[in-house]
Amino acid sequence: MHLWLFGYGSLIWRPDIEYVDRRPARVQGWARRFWQGSHDHRGVPEAPGRVVTLIREAGSSCDGMAYLVDRDAVEETFTRLDHREKNGYERHSVNLTFLADARREQGVVYIAPVDNFAYLGEAPLADMADQIYRSVGPSGTNVDYLLELASALRALDAEDEHVFQLENAVRELSR
Ligand code: BEZ
Repeated sequence: MHLWLFGYGSLIWRPDIEYVDRRPARVQGWARRFWQGSHDHRGVPEAPGRVVTLIREAGSSCDGMAYLVDRDAVEETFTRLDHREKNGYERHSVNLTFLADARREQGVVYIAPVDNFAYLGEAPLADMADQIYRSVGPSGTNVDYLLELASALRALDAEDEHVFQLENAVRELSR
């Protein structure tokens, strides 16, 4: 079976996987939040950065990119992503809606649940922006991660107040 993989974070601008098709898509009932700690990519264990996870929130939705992975590549793709996202993320099944034609498909998404060891949770916007501004890890700065995400969302014409408010706050700190 082919498989749809939904990306709402770095998978949007750096999928780094083999896929046969991709389409902008939405998941309903979930909100993208910078509430997950990053010890291995955009921070270090002593000073974790902040990256996105999905939080259940009635009435919210999250736009991202869905990738169609050929059945022959599914196993290798999961092995690769399970390793890349080992810092608290788990695979979940979700309902996707393609933005272009409202067609629905079942998909898989990586989510960091609220009880994982690296979860940071909500904090005041200024504190989250400050943490992102200061954090750096093996994959680069946390600021680059945030700005890449904001730019990828604009390219998709996606609304995301949380991400764009953080972007503005971090740009202010950078001045
Ligand atoms: C994503 O871009 O969908 C993604 C976010 C967090 C972990 C793994 C993937």
